[in-house]
Formats: sequence, structure tokens, C-alpha cells
Amino acid sequence: MEIQGSKVLITGAASGIGRATAIAMARSGARLFLTDINHKGLAETSRMIAGDGGEVCKYKAFDISMYEDVKVFSDEIHRDFGPVDILVNVAGIALFAQLEDMSHDHWKKVLAVNLWGVIHGIECFVPEMIRARRGHVVSVSSTAGIIGLPWHAVYAGTKHALVGISEVLRYDLKKHNLGVSVICPGAVRTGLVKTVEVIGNKDAVAKVRSKFLKIAIPPEKVAKQIISVIKKKKFMLITSLDIRILFFLKRHIPPLYHVIMRLLCWYMDKELLRKKES
Ligand SMILES: NC(=O)c1ccc[n+]([C@@H]2O[C@H](COP(=O)([O-])OP(=O)(O)OC[C@H]3O[C@@H](n4cnc5c(N)ncnc54)[C@H](O)[C@@H]3O)[C@@H](O)[C@H]2O)c1
Repeated sequence: MEIQGSKVLITGAASGIGRATAIAMARSGARLFLTDINHKGLAETSRMIAGDGGEVCKYKAFDISMYEDVKVFSDEIHRDFGPVDILVNVAGIALFAQLEDMSHDHWKKVLAVNLWGVIHGIECFVPEMIRARRGHVVSVSSTAGIIGLPWHAVYAGTKHALVGISEVLRYDLKKHNLGVSVICPGAVRTGLVKTVEVIGNKDAVAKVRSKFLKIAIPPEKVAKQIISVIKKKKFMLITSLDIRILFFLKRHIPPLYHVIMRLLCWYMDKELLRKKES
């Protein structure tokens, strides 16, 4: 699918992967429609793109988990600009915890943004794309969407769901000439590293965060990969080699995967739990 001249809607565009993708898309000649809950960050992204000679047709801040807000935004876009060509669902939040430390609200909050937010994007924008018989739908899942990462129960639940929805749409939408991709990033250096809620010992969390940052890649690299996946109509993108290897082991050498996951679980418990008790 060509990016030049395409109408591209990106959620989560105020920061990180969403912002980097918006900037990269604009540089490739896309006409942008941007949204995020963070009004200031969204306006800043829009300014950055305009300063760079790119085109933001419309941007609006709202909570993606609120269906009515997404519907109003999509109605406005369809009325004034027609169907979008490319939908990129990026907005998300993260929460890592042990099951016994999680409240019902923790589950609801992450499901509302990471799962319902993406569903809202799909149900409000994709039917018009089907009628136009062209387009591409991208959803940003995670390593946690293909691997059962320790401490990630709710986050992994939402991200696995995105892989499942994308896999079904990949085949269902083919007859309408629509492509589908799901992105599974490893560690990426974004705002999420600071905003992730970790229910564990604070000092340990800071240490794990700094280790995460050491292996994290810049969001601009993920943005480039997202554009390439759309152009090549590729289904799944796993951004890091280590995760590609782990996913291979899960499918082809399960006993080895099992050992690695038990070690990972032991490591995270050691880092985050032991210190919590001391
Ligand atoms: N950073 C990583 O290491 C990493 C790894 C795997 C997957 N991801 C996924 O990538 C996506 C982008 O995250 P990021 O790393 O760029 O983090 P980020 O925090 O920089 O960006 C996420 C954006 O989503 C927005 N957002 C949060 N709640 C929202 C809501 N209710 N409504 C609308 N917008 C909302 C935030 O304001 C923010 O701008 C997320 O879905 C995340 O789960 C990130």
C-alpha cells in the first residue's frame, strides 16, 4: 500500500511510537488524522509535523476507551474527508503486577484502553474502508501479545487479543482488498517506560526500568518498520531479534521455551518481590 497521498489515522500520537509513526508517515507524504488523550502532546506532534512541511488534516484529544468520542471523531472525518486509507492503533497503557496485588479496577483500566480502544478504532473506521475497498489496518500489540511474560497478566491479555483480532481480520478483510498487520515491539524507549504502573518495590522497579532502557530501541526505528510492513503488506512484525528467537522456540522447541520462561519468572520475582518483602 502506498503511503504518499494516503489518509492515515493514528491513535496515541502524542508520544513515543505513535508520534514517531505520525512524523515518519508525514515525511512519506501521508495526510494525517491524529488523536490521543494528551492534548498538549498531541498539539506538539501536530506542530512538529507542520514545521517539517507535513500535513495534519485534523487532530483531536479524547479518551480512546470512550466509544462515543471515537464515533464523533470518525463521523467528522468521514463527513469532511471520506474514509481513511490506513488506520494505525497505537494508544496503550501498561500495568505489571502479581495477580494478588491487582484490583478489579486495574483489570478494567487496561482492558478499556488497550482492548476496547482498539476495538473502537476498528468498528468506527474499518466499515468505511471496506466500502471504499482499499486500505490497511495496523494494531500495535507487544512481545506480551505472543509470549506469556511474567507479571503481565492483564497487559498480555489485551495484547494477545489484538493478535487474535488481527489474525481473523487478516483473512476476513482480504476479500475487501484491505491489508492487516500486527506489530509486536520488544523494548522501545518511549513515555511508557515512565508511565507504566508496576505494583512492586519502588527501588527494584527503578533498576528494572534502567535495564529495560539499556536494551530499548528508539521509537523512530519502530515507525520505519511499521511503514515498511504496510508497504510490503506483511502481517506480523516482531521488532527485536531476541523476541523473534523466543517466539520461534515457543512454536518449535517448547521444552526450551518453558525453561527460559521459568528463568524469566524467577528473575522478575527475585528483582521485584524479594525486595518488596524486605
Ligand atoms: N515502549 C515499549 O517498550 C512497548 C513495547 C511493546 C508494545 N508497546 C505498545 O506500543 C504502544 C505505544 O506505546 P509507547 O511505547 O509509544 O508509549 P507512550 O506512552 O509514549 O505512548 C502511548 C500513548 O497512548 C496515549 N494514551 C494512553 N491512554 C490513552 C487513552 N485512554 N486514550 C487515548 N490515548 C491514550 C498516551 O497519552 C501516549 O501518548 C502501546 O500500545 C504499547 O502497549 C510499547
